Amino acid sequence: ENSVYILAIESSCDDTAAAILHNGKVLSNVVARQQVHEEYGGVVPELASRAHQQNIVPVADVALKKAGIQKKQLSAIAFTQGPGLMGSLLVGSSFAKSVAQALQIPLIAVNHMQAHILAHFIEEEGFEKPEFPFLAMTISGGHTQIVKVSSYFDMEVIGETTDDAVGEAFDKSAKILGLPYPGGPLIDKYAHEGNPKAYTFTKPQVPGLNFSFSGLKTQILYFVQKSVESDASFVENHLHDICASIQYTIINILMDKLKMAVNQTGINRVAIGGGVSANSGIRKALKEAEKKYGWKTFVPKFEYTTDNAAMIGIVGHHKYLLQQFDDATITSKARFAL
Ligand code: KG4
Ligand code: ZN
Repeated sequence: ENSVYILAIESSCDDTAAAILHNGKVLSNVVARQQVHEEYGGVVPELASRAHQQNIVPVADVALKKAGIQKKQLSAIAFTQGPGLMGSLLVGSSFAKSVAQALQIPLIAVNHMQAHILAHFIEEEGFEKPEFPFLAMTISGGHTQIVKVSSYFDMEVIGETTDDAVGEAFDKSAKILGLPYPGGPLIDKYAHEGNPKAYTFTKPQVPGLNFSFSGLKTQILYFVQKSVESDASFVENHLHDICASIQYTIINILMDKLKMAVNQTGINRVAIGGGVSANSGIRKALKEAEKKYGWKTFVPKFEYTTDNAAMIGIVGHHKYLLQQFDDATITSKARFAL
């Protein structure tokens, strides 16, 4: 039969998400964002898993209702096996296992990082799928990787961060400036009206295709502390210029490594994924690289960049076609290589 309906569940961090896909097309994509973490300035694992427990059944129900299908039509259930917070992952995997058992349908475990990349293969009008092989840069609050993607399930990490993820660099810089969590989108917003060359931050010297962001964060901290010493309202008065300069430095770091990866591999199809791919600076830089270097670049639809279940569903769909199923003995993995 050629009608595949996948129910997908994502619960690796602080968003509880469910989606229904029909033959790779998204019928519904529901995310319950957890507000509880805001006042703590970061995700609190205990609170995250408790909120997942409260949200998961209603979120899955809403996804089914919005898709307008019955449970009995489902071909399989896919869920995030890892990487992520163990307590959060366990809520999603327990739920998926019980649904698979109750409905007697196959269970499919999905690698969250693979999903960020394969999100580009969701059937979506106006979005072209990258041809294999291509380079994927996954940039989020938890990860920063450059991956050579040779086919759906043949992926090789060719560069990654040795310390903080790029999203953390944005969020920690924002915190230094007194902005609320997560500060990445705010830095992006203020950067629009700022001068990216107002302040100069040095780029870290990291060999090969690897990244490092912890030095930059320290540099920004000292810069702000020193400036505030001589002018107490320095941050308020220069917020736009500071944000523009920070964003400019981070985007330069990412683009330098991408250029190096394109030169090393000879592959000029470049896709991005993960929360930071919403950043206007990286989107603009990729557009420029198309003109300047003849790259072909791929940016996913906004709702498929941050954590979501549709991306878990598209991996589930392709695994379903390959009959790659798992059983209830499968265990969650906080760390999970591609
Ligand atoms: O993929 P995601 O939703 O969750 C993780 O798996 O981490 O990514 C969240 C990260 C946060 O660090 C957030 O600040 C960052 O993505 N982010 C942005 C923007 N939108 C989200 N960073 C810079 N500019 C943005 N527009
Ligand atoms: Zn993610």
